[in-house]
Amino acid sequence: MGLSQALREATMAVHERAHHSTYMAALLGGELPVEAYTLLAEQYLGIYGALEAKAAELAADPVAGPFVIDELHRVPALEQDVAALGGSVAAPRLLPETEAYAARLREADAARFVAHHYTRYLGDLAGGQVVGKLLEKTYGITGPGALFYDFSALGSPSRFRVRYRALLDEAPWDEIEQRRVCDEAVRAFELNIAVLEGMATTTRIAA
Ligand code: HEM
Repeated sequence: MGLSQALREATMAVHERAHHSTYMAALLGGELPVEAYTLLAEQYLGIYGALEAKAAELAADPVAGPFVIDELHRVPALEQDVAALGGSVAAPRLLPETEAYAARLREADAARFVAHHYTRYLGDLAGGQVVGKLLEKTYGITGPGALFYDFSALGSPSRFRVRYRALLDEAPWDEIEQRRVCDEAVRAFELNIAVLEGMATTTRIAA
């Protein structure tokens, strides 16, 4: 089985749990003030800041290097979004769960970096597009404020996902290393769920 299929299967159950985040449901249901999304955008700035700093560090790595794709990088868009939404770019209000996630990213090696890279960017290119459209519909947020969801520089998201899965399947990892990538992807989902639960608590949404 290729790594792309192994990752999909290894993360299916935890992905299902991520779907049921009370914060995401309240946000997408329009039950929260826009400020509740601004705080999430600030968490993303912390997460992508660490992920893309690691990308810069591993750009020359023979295995991780091919995954360092500038058009995927979100920090430039997130800085504009947070500023447009009235948040702080210079000092984003990071939750403890986000700090823990960023710390895990900072200590990642090539295999773990790719696991986090897959979890965030392939998620943004799939379910994330749904979130982007609902933000526009529910809160009227388009352009600066929602640039995070704009991957037009990549061309068609579905064609890119095919290319991305081929990159995963071509990565020269043996079974043990592939297992480590899958385990870290599950950990990455758990870290994302913890951030969404932290958001639910901070924005006082009943569980
Ligand atoms: C409201 C929450 C969410 C919704 C509605 C959602 C929805 C989806 C959908 C429809 C797909 C495409 C499935 C397919 O290609 O068959 C997908 C894929 C994916 N999602 Fe989510 N998702 C959500 C939350 C998350 C979260 C929190 C993460 C991780 C941070 C995530 C990561 C992924 C990944 C990595 C994929 C690609 C799976 C693969 O093809 O290997 N999703 N999501």
